[in-house]
Amino acid sequence: MKVFMIGAGDIAKSHGRAVVKLGGKVIGAFDVNKEGLRKYCMEFECDAVEYDQLEAYIEQADYVVLCTPPTKRIDYAEKILKAHKPMYMEKPIATTMEDAKVLIELSEKYNGKILVGFAHRYRPAFQKMVELVRSGILGEPVQAFSHRYGPGYGFGQRTLAESWRTDPNLACGMTIESISHEFNLLSALVGEFETIAANVACTIPSVPQYDTNTNMTMRARNGAIVTIGASWSSAVGVNVKGFIGTKGAVFLKGRNMFEFDEVVYKTIDMPTEQSFIFNDSYAKDQDGVIFNAHEHFFDCLLNGKEICTPLSEGVKVLLLSNAALESSREKKTVTLNYEVKNENICE
Ligand SMILES: NC(=O)c1ccc[n+]([C@@H]2O[C@H](COP(=O)([O-])OP(=O)(O)OC[C@H]3O[C@@H](n4cnc5c(N)ncnc54)[C@H](O)[C@@H]3O)[C@@H](O)[C@H]2O)c1
Repeated sequence: MKVFMIGAGDIAKSHGRAVVKLGGKVIGAFDVNKEGLRKYCMEFECDAVEYDQLEAYIEQADYVVLCTPPTKRIDYAEKILKAHKPMYMEKPIATTMEDAKVLIELSEKYNGKILVGFAHRYRPAFQKMVELVRSGILGEPVQAFSHRYGPGYGFGQRTLAESWRTDPNLACGMTIESISHEFNLLSALVGEFETIAANVACTIPSVPQYDTNTNMTMRARNGAIVTIGASWSSAVGVNVKGFIGTKGAVFLKGRNMFEFDEVVYKTIDMPTEQSFIFNDSYAKDQDGVIFNAHEHFFDCLLNGKEICTPLSEGVKVLLLSNAALESSREKKTVTLNYEVKNENICE
C-alpha cells in the first residue's frame, strides 16, 4: 500500500511506522512546519511535498492519512475525497457540527471511504471486553464507565505556545479532542445515549476553551447509567473502564490514562474472577496502538471488510462532545436525539 501523509507531527510518526510494519510505504508528506516535515521525510525516506503538489501525490496514493489539527481538515479532506481516495482521518473529525456537516456532504458526494482514528477501539484488551459483553454472559447492561486521569497536555510539561492544543486560535479542549475516544468505547459496550449532564473545568486561565477536566453522566437508551471522568491535570495517573451487567461485570484496568494492562471479569456463576493480562502500554508503545487501526484499514481496503469506525461514528461522537460542553455551559441536562447508521458493524 502506498500512503500519503497530511500533517507530519507526533501521531503521524506512529501512522508512518504502522504503514511500514504492514509492508506499505509512505510516499510523501505535507506539513506547514517545514522543519518538522524535513525530519519526518528523513525518517520515512519519502518526498517533502509542497501545497501545490498535493493533488499529484494524493493521486498516487492507495490511501491518505489526515492528521492535522482538527480545525484544519476540510480543505485537505475535499482534495482526498474528490480524488476518490480512502482517507484515514484522525479523531476528532472536526470541532464544530458545521464542519462535520461539510464532511458528510463531501463523503456522500464522492462516496468516501473513511476510517476515523479511534485507535483504542482496536486494542486487543478492549476487543476482549466487547467480546465478553456481547457474548451475553454478563447479562443486560446496568452501568458502564470510563475514568482516566493523569498528567496530560498542558500539565506542567510544555509551554503553551508549543502546541495547537493550547494555542488560543486552535484549541478545542479535552472533551472534544480526547473524550471522543470514551464516547466511542462506551457506546460499543452499552449502545446509544438519550441524555447527558456534564461539568468541565479548565486549569489554564489564558486558554479558557481548553478544558482539561471533565465529568459527566449519561442515560443510555436501554436504561443503563454511563459515567465518564477524566483529567489532563492530575499528577497521578489511572485508567479504569467497566461494564456492570445483571449477571456479571468486566473491568479494564491500567496504570495510567491510556494504559490497558488487565481485563478482569466475573459472572455470578463463577467462583472467582478471571483475569487476562495485556500490558498494552500507550506510553511505551504508541506505535503499537496506532498499528491496530491501520491493520484494520488494510483489511477493509484489501478484503472489502466494513470499517468499524467510519465517518458516521466520528460525527456522532462530535455531537456528544458538543452536547457535553453545552450541558456544562448552560448548567442543564441535554436530551440527545441522533440517528446511528450501521450499528454493530465491528464484528
Ligand atoms: N488516535 C489517537 O490515539 C491520537 C493520538 C494523538 C493524537 N491524535 C490526533 O491527531 C491529530 C494530530 O495530533 P498530534 O498529536 O499529531 O499533533 P501535533 O501538533 O504533534 O501534529 C500536528 C501537525 O499538523 C501540522 N499542521 C498544523 N496546521 C496545519 C495545516 N493547516 N496544514 C498542514 N499541517 C498542519 C503541524 O505543523 C504539526 O506538525 C489530532 O486531531 C489529535 O487529536 C490522535
